[in-house]
Amino acid sequence: PSRKVQLHLISLLENHGGLKLSKTSFLDNEKLSPSWYLRTFVAIFFFLSDSSQCLHARQEVFSVGNDTTATTLEWAITELVKNPKVMQKATAEVRQAFEACGTVAEHALGKLPYMHLVIRETLRLHTPVPLLLPRQCQEPCQVLGYDVPRGTHVLVNVWALAHDERYWHDPPDEFRPERFEGEAAVVDFRGTDFSFLPFGAGRRMCPGIGFGLANIELALASLLFHFDWEGPPPGEIDMAEEFGLTVRRKADLLLRPVLRVPSQ
Ligand code: HEM
Repeated sequence: PSRKVQLHLISLLENHGGLKLSKTSFLDNEKLSPSWYLRTFVAIFFFLSDSSQCLHARQEVFSVGNDTTATTLEWAITELVKNPKVMQKATAEVRQAFEACGTVAEHALGKLPYMHLVIRETLRLHTPVPLLLPRQCQEPCQVLGYDVPRGTHVLVNVWALAHDERYWHDPPDEFRPERFEGEAAVVDFRGTDFSFLPFGAGRRMCPGIGFGLANIELALASLLFHFDWEGPPPGEIDMAEEFGLTVRRKADLLLRPVLRVPSQ
């Protein structure tokens, strides 16, 4: 990263020093709201020194965290526009949950079970990071009868696992949030179910899982609460993917927001 970008990131972080940061907030599990994550995240960086390694770490967390979160959100909206019934159900749920207070409130995000299914299905169908961080085999072993020598580089294709018909019986290429209410209800994405690893697994697993999910939930709920979304007919939406560290939409998603509930 250029020095200019680094300086910008630092000033961004340090300007948040005005937030009330306390060490106890790290340990207080009852405050797991998006703003708690933001405070904790900023606090962690605040305590880091300015060595070049720390600058690199800050830059890495910003880029890894932003890209994956934005990619997931963009695919979620794409699938909702492409599947009007799902859009209708998710929008109705969000509007009902926040009708009384007129805005999306962090503390009530737990009242949106269907939207959580939508996010889960988006992470499965459009696995944002298709290949996990490279691993290296520390000692010789055998996998499925194959000899794997020490030092072998291993790339885990979690996209393929999330689309494998042996584990996903409803057609795996269809967007069906309801699958997570049925036989896939017990499948978890926190690194223990190998058919669904959008955040990886083991010691290199994504450390931003809570922060990332909180950001997606808050943004998606707000987009659905305040706006109706008009776009091309479902069958004409361009679903082409662009392969990189994350798999993003190749074409821009052009939609028209129609304001339904103005911010209060
Ligand atoms: C939907 C959101 C996100 C997804 C799907 C995601 C996914 C991943 C995946 C698959 C990995 C590799 C894990 C492995 O190889 O086992 C990873 C690593 C990482 N993620 Fe995330 N991530 C997300 C959000 C975030 C956020 C918000 C942050 C930071 C605030 C973050 C920070 C990191 C970092 C620093 C690593 C590297 C960990 C290491 O080097 O050991 N991620 N993420």
